Order: sequence, then structure tokens, then C-alpha cells
Amino acid sequence: MINISRILVCFVGYLVVPASCFPPDIQALSILERAAPVAPDGYTPAVVSCPAHRPTIRAATGLSTNETDWLPLRTNNTVQAMKDVLSRANISGLDTGRYIDNLTNAGTGLPRVAIAISGGGYRALMNGAGALAAFDNRSTNATETGHLGGLLQSATYLSGLSGGSWLVGSLYVQNFTSVESIISATDGFLSTIWQFDHSILNGPDGLSITRYYRQLFDDVDGKRDAGFNTTITDYWGRALSYQLVDPSDGGPAFTFSSISNDTDFTSAQAPLPLIVAIERTSGQLQIASNSTIFEFNPWEMGSYDPGLEAFAPLQFVGSNFTNGSIPRNGSCIAGVDNAGFVMGTSSSLFNQAFLQIGRVEGVPEFLISAINATLANVGSENRDIANWPNPFFRYNSSGNLNANSTVLALVDGGEDLQNIPLHPLLLEEREVDVVFAVDGSADTATLWPNGTAMVATFNRSEARVSSNDSRFPDVPDQNTFVNLGLNQRPTFFGCTNGSNTPRGPLIVYMPNAPYSFQSNVSTFDLEYSIEERNQIIQNGYNMATMGNGTVDSNWPACIGCAILARSLVRTRTRIPSKCADCFARYCWNGTTNNTLPNTYEPAQILANTTEQSTSSAARISGTLLLSCFAFMLAI
Ligand SMILES: *[C@@H]1O[C@H](CO)[C@@H](O)[C@H](O)[C@H]1NC(C)=O
Ligand SMILES: *[C@@H]1O[C@H](CO)[C@@H](O)[C@H](O)[C@H]1NC(C)=O
Ligand SMILES: *[C@@H]1O[C@H](CO)[C@@H](O)[C@H](O)[C@H]1NC(C)=O
Ligand SMILES: *[C@@H]1O[C@H](CO)[C@@H](O)[C@H](O)[C@H]1NC(C)=O
Ligand SMILES: *[C@@H]1O[C@H](CO)[C@@H](O)[C@H](O)[C@H]1NC(C)=O
Ligand SMILES: *[C@@H]1O[C@H](CO)[C@@H](O)[C@H](O)[C@H]1NC(C)=O
Ligand SMILES: *[C@@H]1O[C@H](CO)[C@@H](O)[C@H](O)[C@H]1NC(C)=O
Ligand SMILES: *[C@@H]1O[C@H](CO)[C@@H](O)[C@H](O)[C@H]1NC(C)=O
Ligand SMILES: *[C@@H]1O[C@H](CO)[C@@H](O)[C@H](O)[C@H]1NC(C)=O
Ligand SMILES: *[C@@H]1O[C@H](CO)[C@@H](O)[C@H](O)[C@H]1NC(C)=O
Ligand SMILES: *[C@@H]1O[C@H](CO)[C@@H](O)[C@H](O)[C@H]1NC(C)=O
Ligand SMILES: *[C@@H]1O[C@H](CO)[C@@H](O)[C@H](O)[C@H]1NC(C)=O
Repeated sequence: MINISRILVCFVGYLVVPASCFPPDIQALSILERAAPVAPDGYTPAVVSCPAHRPTIRAATGLSTNETDWLPLRTNNTVQAMKDVLSRANISGLDTGRYIDNLTNAGTGLPRVAIAISGGGYRALMNGAGALAAFDNRSTNATETGHLGGLLQSATYLSGLSGGSWLVGSLYVQNFTSVESIISATDGFLSTIWQFDHSILNGPDGLSITRYYRQLFDDVDGKRDAGFNTTITDYWGRALSYQLVDPSDGGPAFTFSSISNDTDFTSAQAPLPLIVAIERTSGQLQIASNSTIFEFNPWEMGSYDPGLEAFAPLQFVGSNFTNGSIPRNGSCIAGVDNAGFVMGTSSSLFNQAFLQIGRVEGVPEFLISAINATLANVGSENRDIANWPNPFFRYNSSGNLNANSTVLALVDGGEDLQNIPLHPLLLEEREVDVVFAVDGSADTATLWPNGTAMVATFNRSEARVSSNDSRFPDVPDQNTFVNLGLNQRPTFFGCTNGSNTPRGPLIVYMPNAPYSFQSNVSTFDLEYSIEERNQIIQNGYNMATMGNGTVDSNWPACIGCAILARSLVRTRTRIPSKCADCFARYCWNGTTNNTLPNTYEPAQILANTTEQSTSSAARISGTLLLSCFAFMLAI
């Protein structure tokens, strides 16, 4: 099907011959969009000159000024998309355009939308990608009746955890391109990332396995030689980057903080990406429900939780921040926040899967030894750790549980069972009104979600671990989720019946379910054909749109009502009857049935439809073949 070496031939050819020689399709290949490879020395962190305003650690007493400055820009930019989505929602009884205009004129209270993409390996990435494609007004047909395009453009926050962080991180380092432009040849552009038919254990097409492993080894070796603590997560993050960042060399110089410099990001053309991981304090092996939850955003890393309550400037993590600031004669160090390392940190549970390389043929001995060496100084129970230089060393020694350690150990964001990255969206200051919570977890024995992530976040909220969190709505136990089918169709949690003032956002829970494909693939399955990848993404699209509104033609209206739910209460606007119907239908009404269900084996929801992805894959190869042919004739 898609032949990467052919693409490389075209691409290399492009570099040596003037662009005018090429047909338009080939020229498009040169716009492989990226964030910036700005790290000082590839994967090896190194000294850079300090900015005039020397970076410091800040107390997490509120949002950063970076974020509070950015939010009004983003709010303004969401207005038109939100009006479009609401207008297509066609909520009779409310002039939504006028309603939003009123709020805009008042300069306050525009609905604030967030999207959260769960963990669950490649399954979660693909299911989440389908949902984002459905929410994206750039996707073909996404602004037709029954579709939800524009919800992504209406969103202020987009969080990702573990497999979900691969999706979010990958899109941002690709200049926030659309899912569709990654998986199909849109306008002649064909992306070379997400080639999951080439397992991460074997490396990308076009790169020999020896060369692949040599690069992984050299990158991590360089970081270690520079005096940084490395673990198997460094290898894992490097390997991921060949699929998510750049298939030729894994983009060793791409930093997550470089997103903060991207003009589309600074002008708030895209939502704020948030990636979640969990802190492990020294000696702690079990991740408790009160663990300190970290977030990475393009400006900072840190936590609002009581175990830390501090943030470090992400670009400069690795500098000596002892006691909160870099000594006068100290230097600024950059390059620790490699984009793949951030994604690897959020998904460090997969280190275990990566250990399978011992069984792959052709993996060089030096790499196995190197990995064994990083494993040797930790117990087997510590293999899921990403070691970051601790920027919070000696900072706030009373509240900071890791104040006495020079190493900051972070683990997979889902290890506390909160597999949907809701936590950063519950922070009161962020004033989120609705979260579209896309759950690709494998909870049941049959690898479908059963609400476990929702229950975990509810439990943590009830335990009042952090006073910064707004209350999470009540949710039932997992047996109820399964018995009532709440894990099979979207459900709203936190509905108020329009009366009492709600605390915290409405949660629209969107579980992975078999709409057009049995997408319950194993979390640790590391290889997918392009066909299977596209089918799972298509299923995610169908899940989000309920089969483009064929399962319920009111679904787009109900999504509109979910966006407006909190706002309508705030503005004391009468709930339109359409929305009252939606809330009656989609809100969990408190009913429970906690009897143990039978094995959960859901039937496919949509009748088999003819597949589009095959033809689109054929179209890609066809386009390429023609382009390459034209290219060869040109020289
Ligand atoms: C990033 O995407 C935006 C919007 O699509 C586009 O205008 C811009 O040129 C892209 N930047 C790069 C570096 O490709
Ligand atoms: C708000 O967005 C509109 C277009 O979307 C733009 O014309 C206007 O300048 C923006 N206003 C501010 C204050 O950024
Ligand atoms: C918009 O504001 C005007 C003036 O306050 C009010 O009469 C009208 O009902 C509002 N419209 C909506 C849809 O909220
Ligand atoms: C878009 O909609 C048209 C008309 O319904 C259909 O023929 C086409 O296959 C759709 N394209 C995609 C990518 O869904
Ligand atoms: C890396 O961190 C581990 C665990 O904290 C520690 O045992 C080890 O000595 C550190 N290695 C280096 C090179 O700092
Ligand atoms: C942003 O770009 C400027 C100018 O190139 C550079 O000095 C700065 O380090 C960059 N910031 C980040 C976070 O990469
Ligand atoms: C979690 O609770 C336990 C027991 O109360 C306590 O020892 C521990 O320090 C807490 N951890 C965090 C991160 O707050
Ligand atoms: C965030 O804001 C601070 C304070 O205004 C500023 O010094 C810093 O450069 C900003 N960070 C980024 C990455 O832009
Ligand atoms: C870091 O800075 C502190 C002073 O703030 C100093 O005592 C310490 O020696 C420095 N550490 C390193 C490794 O340079
Ligand atoms: C690495 O460790 C594994 C398991 O502990 C062992 O079987 C293997 O021989 C080691 N390989 C090397 C090259 O040290
Ligand atoms: C760190 O060490 C200081 C001094 O030894 C001690 O007072 C403090 O309690 C320790 N903090 C933690 C979180 O262990
Ligand atoms: C729900 O998922 C949890 C976590 O995997 C599992 O322990 C439990 O048995 C599941 N319950 C049901 C009813 O599926």
C-alpha cells in the first residue's frame, strides 16, 4: 500500500531539484509541518544563554500570566466556530447566534469548552483521533447536517494522557494539523507519521533496524553523558517520536515548549494542550488516589496539587533551580523537554511493552545492554518511571513532597486509574463549562470502557485532595455503567435540572463503542495495518457523532445544549424545550443497578457500511505513484 521509501525518494529528490520541476503533489510534500527543532543539541540538553528575565519557579497560587494573557485571545477566537456549531445544532426556541452575541458584547461568560482524550495505547490514540476528526471543521463533510465539526475550534483546552497524549502531542508538533490530513492525502499532502503497520519495535519503513536502534542508543547516550539521569522512558520516548514526530530521525530537537513560540499558538488559533503525568515520591511504589498530578503545557510543567503547588518554566527544566531560582552565576539549560520525552513520560507504563524488544530479531546487543543498565539500578517495580531533573529541589520544603530529591520521578498519567485527563480541567480558575471526555480505556474483560476512569476521578474529588478542584459530578459504580449502557452511548454527568447552581463542568462521557468496527483492540498491541488504523479512527468518528446523527438525529442539538448548559443557568435563561428533551435523554438521572453484569459483549451499533478507507488508501498510493513518475520524468 503506502510505500515510505517511495515518499523518501520523492522527498530527497525535492531537496536537490528546484520546486518548479515538480507537480503540485510533490511540492505539497515539502510542507511537512512541525513545531520547532530548537533544542540546543538534539536530544542532549545543553547550556543556552538565559533570557533577560531569568526563569524562576512560581507558586501555583493561580493560573500563570502566560495562560491568563492567552485566554481572552482564545475566547475571542472560539466565538465564530461556536456560533456555527450551535447554529447547525438548530436548537428551536433559542436564537443561539443572538445569545452568543449578547455574551460577547457583555464581554463575559462565553461557554468554555474542553476536550479530554483518555489513555489506552494505540487504541486510545485512534479512538480519540476519530473523535477529534469529528469535532474538527476541517474534516471533509464535518460541517454537514448530523456532524459536529467546529467543536474542536470552539474548545479552549485539549488534554491528553498516555495514549491520548500521543494524539495531542503529535498533532501539536505537526502544527496542529487535522487528523484527516495525517491519514489521507488531503490536497496532495501525505503525512509519513502514524505508520502503525511498522511496529515501534522495528522502527519506521525506510530506516534499517540497525540504524534505528543506533539512533535511539546514541540519543539517550548523549543525554546520559551530559550528566542527566536516563531511564527506559528515554528510549521509549525516542522510539515513539519516529511514529509521532518525525519518521526519519524522531525529531530529537523538537521541544514541547517550542509550541509556545508557534505563531498560531500565540495568536490562540488552537486550544491549549495539556499533558498529564503523575509524580511518584521517593520510596513510594503504589500510586495512591491522592498522588500529585502533573500537567505539561507549552509554558510550564508542575502541579496545582497540595503535594507541590508549583510550576517550572518548561523550556528551562534541567537548570539548577535550587530553592526556586537559578543562582546568579548559574547557567540556563534547555532541551530536557523533548516532545517525545513528554509523551513518553505520560505513557511510561508502556516501557513494559517496550521490553519486548528483547524478543525482536536484529536488535543490537549494545542497545539491550544499555537498556539493561538503566533497569539495573531500579527494582522491577520501578520500571515505569521517567526521571526528570527536579526543578523543585529545595523549593517549598514544607509542602513539596519531593523537595529533597534531585530527581523527579514521573509515571504514566493513568496509574491512579484516572485514565481520562479530567484533573487539569476541574481547576476552578479555568472555569470550564463542559468537558467532552473521550474514553478509550480497556476496563472490561472484553477491553471496553466501563466508567472506571470516571469513578476514580469522582473518588478523588470526594476525598477533597485538592481544594483547587471544582466538584466532580456524581457518577455511579461500574456495574451500573454496564447495566444501564452508560458505557455504550454518550452520557451527561452533572446535570442540574436548571435549578441549583452547579459547581464544576458538565461532563459529556463518550465511551469507545462498536459503531462500525470492533475497536476493542488490546492496549499492548503495537502493530496495526493502515486499514485497521483507519477503521478504528472511523469508528471513533461514528462514536462521537452517533453515526452522523443516524442513531439519534437530535444528537448535534444535544451537543449544543451540553455546550450551553452551564451558561444558560448563569444567565438565567429559560432552558429551551429541545435542551430539556436532551437532558432528559442523555443525563444520568441517578438510577443505579449494581448487580454484577454478564460478560460485556456489545453488538455492532451501525449496520455494515461500505468502507471508504480502502479506496482512500488506494487513492494515496495512486497519487504518489503518479507524482513520483512525473518527478522522475522531470529529471
Ligand atoms: C501552520 O498552520 C497554519 C494554519 O494552517 C499555517 O498558516 C502555517 O503556515 C503553518 N505553519 C507552518 C510552519 O507550516
Ligand atoms: C476577535 O476575533 C476577531 C475575528 O475572529 C478579530 O477580528 C478581532 O480583532 C479579535 N479581537 C480581539 C480583541 O482579539
Ligand atoms: C439578548 O439581549 C437582549 C437585550 O438584553 C435581550 O432582549 C435578548 O433576549 C437577548 N437574546 C438572547 C437570545 O439571549
Ligand atoms: C462526504 O459526503 C459525500 C456526500 O454524502 C459522500 O459522497 C462522501 O463519501 C463523503 N466523504 C467522506 C470523506 O466522508
Ligand atoms: C538516577 O536516579 C536514580 C533513582 O533516583 C538514582 O538511583 C541514580 O543514582 C541516578 N543516576 C544518576 C546518574 O544520577
Ligand atoms: C522562542 O523563540 C525565541 C527566538 O527565536 C527564542 O529565543 C526562545 O528561546 C524560544 N522559546 C521557546 C520556548 O522555545
Ligand atoms: C496521601 O495520603 C497519605 C496518607 O494520608 C499520606 O501519607 C501521603 O503523604 C499523601 N500523599 C500525597 C501526595 O498527598
Ligand atoms: C510566561 O510568562 C512569563 C512572565 O510573563 C515570561 O517571563 C515567560 O517568558 C513566559 N513563558 C513563555 C514560554 O512564553
Ligand atoms: C545549585 O545552586 C545552589 C545554590 O542555589 C548551589 O548550592 C549548588 O551547588 C548548585 N548545584 C549544582 C549542581 O551546581
Ligand atoms: C538483559 O537482561 C535480560 C533479563 O534480565 C537478560 O536475559 C539478558 O541477557 C540481558 N542482556 C544483556 C545484553 O545484558
Ligand atoms: C527535607 O529535608 C529537610 C531537612 O533535612 C527536612 O526538614 C524536610 O522535612 C524534608 N522534606 C521532605 C518532604 O522530606
Ligand atoms: C470494570 O473495570 C474494572 C477495571 O478494569 C474491573 O476491575 C471491573 O471488573 C470492571 N467491571 C465491569 C462490570 O466491567
